[in-house]
Amino acid sequence: MTRRRQIYEGKAKILYEGPEPGTLIQYFKDDATAFNAQKKGTISGKGVLNNRISEHVFTLLGNIGVPTHFIRRLNMREQLIRQCEIVPIEVVIRNVAAGSIAKRLGLEEGLQLPRTIIEYYYKDDALGDPIVSEEHIACFGWASQDEMHDIADMAIRINDFLTGLFAGVGIRLVDFKLEFGRIYDNDYARIILADEISPDGCRLWDMTTGEKLDKDRFRQDLGGEVEAYQEIARRLGLLPEG
Ligand code: C5P
Repeated sequence: MTRRRQIYEGKAKILYEGPEPGTLIQYFKDDATAFNAQKKGTISGKGVLNNRISEHVFTLLGNIGVPTHFIRRLNMREQLIRQCEIVPIEVVIRNVAAGSIAKRLGLEEGLQLPRTIIEYYYKDDALGDPIVSEEHIACFGWASQDEMHDIADMAIRINDFLTGLFAGVGIRLVDFKLEFGRIYDNDYARIILADEISPDGCRLWDMTTGEKLDKDRFRQDLGGEVEAYQEIARRLGLLPEG
């Protein structure tokens, strides 16, 4: 492999300089972290599955007109993406109570929320990604109001699409996390969907059994992480029926 300049290394991915200006290579690692990296581990084969699942989902979203950073998959662990300036906000969309909202508000896990909730978290590892409101985002200039409007709009659209996609294969989309970025055309900034969509950042439950098919298997020491990710890929038609 030729040596490439590493731009960034995150918990589950590495970004390298791309072949052309304005592009990057996104490499999917097998590393897994939880609880703000207090728990660390490896899920052998996860990177390959997430690369494939995220490619599939981003391609489908592109087909319905959601602008994304995805260009094409390069190999088992890498995809070519557009370079963008990441908005320092994690956008969490929730359809069903689980995880931090269940804990914070004392809700029973599995409660169907009367309406979809969008939450924002400020991306800062040292602070443990605190939840913030649109007031904070505007006050500190993390994104403009126009950008937040586009982000919320896209988040709802993505949720509607993914809820249907997963329901069609017997999976309940409980919640998930999105990240967005800016790309500049001359002086005009446009918001695009960035990062990845995979079982690392989604809660996905089997509709009939309630079985967890996502990173909660790692977070909660349930075991069978890779089998769960494989099951998601299989249901999406990305692996042969087993
Ligand atoms: O932990 P919490 O309930 O807030 O997570 C909500 C959703 O966002 C989950 O699907 C989780 O996988 C995802 N998430 C993430 N990265 C984070 C925090 C949450 O992918 N840093």
